[in-house]
Amino acid sequence: MKVSIIGGGGLVGSCAGFALQAGGIVSDIALVDVNRDLCEGQALDLLHGASLMAPQRITAGGTEQVSDSDVVVITAGLRRKPDESRLDLINRNVALFRSILNDVKSHGLKQNAIVFVVSNPVDVLTYLAVQDLGLPASQVIGLGTVLDTTRLRSMLAQRIQVPPTQVNVTIFGEHGDSMVPIWSMAQIANLPLDKYPGVTPTLIAEVEKKTRGSGAEVIAKKGGAGFAVGVSIADVIHSIALDDRRILPVSSLMNGAYGVRDVCFSIPTVMGRTGVQSHLEVELWSKEKTALLQSAGVLRETIDRVLQG
Ligand code: 2OP
Repeated sequence: MKVSIIGGGGLVGSCAGFALQAGGIVSDIALVDVNRDLCEGQALDLLHGASLMAPQRITAGGTEQVSDSDVVVITAGLRRKPDESRLDLINRNVALFRSILNDVKSHGLKQNAIVFVVSNPVDVLTYLAVQDLGLPASQVIGLGTVLDTTRLRSMLAQRIQVPPTQVNVTIFGEHGDSMVPIWSMAQIANLPLDKYPGVTPTLIAEVEKKTRGSGAEVIAKKGGAGFAVGVSIADVIHSIALDDRRILPVSSLMNGAYGVRDVCFSIPTVMGRTGVQSHLEVELWSKEKTALLQSAGVLRETIDRVLQG
């Protein structure tokens, strides 16, 4: 399976490329970037380690590489400042993002290609990609709260000293300030979180606060996320490549679950080789459902503002 990464010269795109190389599942990794030297440098750096990894084709070039790609990842875009919300980016990133979409369209896409948006604000840009590309909505996804979910799991694991792979909690809604951690279903090694030794409402609130601020914190400390967003991107792509039907909180066009339509955000979504297979509407606490509808409202309002732009 061939994956193109638009913005592959940058921190997010190159980390995604490295995560795909380390995963060894996809056959082709094509880095695309306007900064051709940087893009070629990233590809060269990946190639230098190739003899210790899986046999993959790794290339660097222009958007022409998307035309035979099975998955096109879009990571290009401006990063927010630590005190900026992801939605604040909207005015600066929409024009750039739409020009990327036009460039992709001009080169053509495979009929069953999947477009995978990472650029922020990811939920709004995923919606624009559905609108502009003319692909079936099931073939357009955003990273959504996949990164937030792994951050929450990893932070909670560190706090209560359990293996992060045994922490099961998911975040729905916007990849942004209105994200909704779903504590009602949280478990540690299949044990209810709220009955786990040492877990208190205060601890949960502290870990949630840390998670919400993680994006800004990592921007302030190192300029932006790289490793965790890279492995999050690769995890979704591997689910597509393997057609494994895992349930992931990717962002996709809502078509009625929880009464929400015509926005893109994250709820439990069955992923497969053809993209979104289905949405799962699981029972939530009433305060979680309220927060989820508020998140949809925030995104709808932003989308309306952009479309009226
Ligand atoms: C983050 O939260 C890049 O939005 C991404 O780090």
